[in-house]
Amino acid sequence: MRIGLLTGGGDCPGLNAAIRAVTRLGRLAGDEVIGYAHGLRGLAEGDGHVLTADETRGILQSGGTILHTARFHPDEHPGGTEAVLATVARDRLDGVIVLGGDGTLSAASRLARHGLPVVGIPKTIDNDVTGTARCIGFDTAVATVADAVDRVHTTGESHDRLMVVEVMGRTVGWLAVAAGIAAGADALCVPEEPVALPLLAKALLRRHEEGATSSVVVVAEGAVLLGGDPATGSPGAQVTATLASATGFEARLTVLGHVQRGGPPTPTDRLLATALGDAALRAAHAGRFATLAAAVDDGIGLVPLERVEGGARPVPPDLLALAGRLTVG
Ligand code: F6P
Repeated sequence: MRIGLLTGGGDCPGLNAAIRAVTRLGRLAGDEVIGYAHGLRGLAEGDGHVLTADETRGILQSGGTILHTARFHPDEHPGGTEAVLATVARDRLDGVIVLGGDGTLSAASRLARHGLPVVGIPKTIDNDVTGTARCIGFDTAVATVADAVDRVHTTGESHDRLMVVEVMGRTVGWLAVAAGIAAGADALCVPEEPVALPLLAKALLRRHEEGATSSVVVVAEGAVLLGGDPATGSPGAQVTATLASATGFEARLTVLGHVQRGGPPTPTDRLLATALGDAALRAAHAGRFATLAAAVDDGIGLVPLERVEGGARPVPPDLLALAGRLTVG
């Protein structure tokens, strides 16, 4: 078969592991794998080439994507859908495997309705793609954030400070909750549950009256804050300014930014990327298009791709409740 392959949306660790798996396993099955640069834009522009063994050797451990990426949704551009279908015909593609977050995968799902033979693979540090329990890149990002919070803890303790760490995650709090629990954050602000900052300030004061000399607050970039002043800046900046003035504690803000998306994937992400790459390739061989290779209850499975169009997947209530019992506020 001739299989197209691309990575779209924000990058994350583990993309290269999936590219390697699809290319290697495809070659073993007698396929030619054509990699398209810069996501769906490359597919629309016909910017592809046959991936060689040399190109995909030694990339399992590397962050980023050798195919490069872009946020591009063909149907939002005049003639974009037709351009994608023209590339598929010109390059005689039997199937296309798209690695994306919910933006790229939703665009791929809409293209499927226009006849694109596509299989999706979920990847994003936000872990918010509907239809899968896990996304490539999340495990690595949790490890990066947890490590950062560990480090912030020790300097905060030394200086008796209130330390605020702002993390990515777009409209959901997966990263904040997972890393917050793993690193023992003292308070969390996430989009799933609005946070009243005056109440959080009181809870932190109580914590310090009871003996704590420093606290770490992890704030998701999409946190919903009540009582913050948007003029002070990002959610992390608002939390820092509001809590500092309400508690009198000396406070410092750390915005982790794109550090969270870089670096080598963890073994867990490499394994997930390899298994999802294998599942997507097998789906293409079986002609099971308009599907998503996904982490499901009992391992790896295929779910209808259109499920990704259902919006971002929030942190489930039981995990939020656990986080709530371990933190103040
Ligand atoms: O979707 C992944 C993500 O890292 C989000 O957590 C973040 O809001 C966004 O991408 C940042 O995008 P950019 O790299 O375009 O600034």
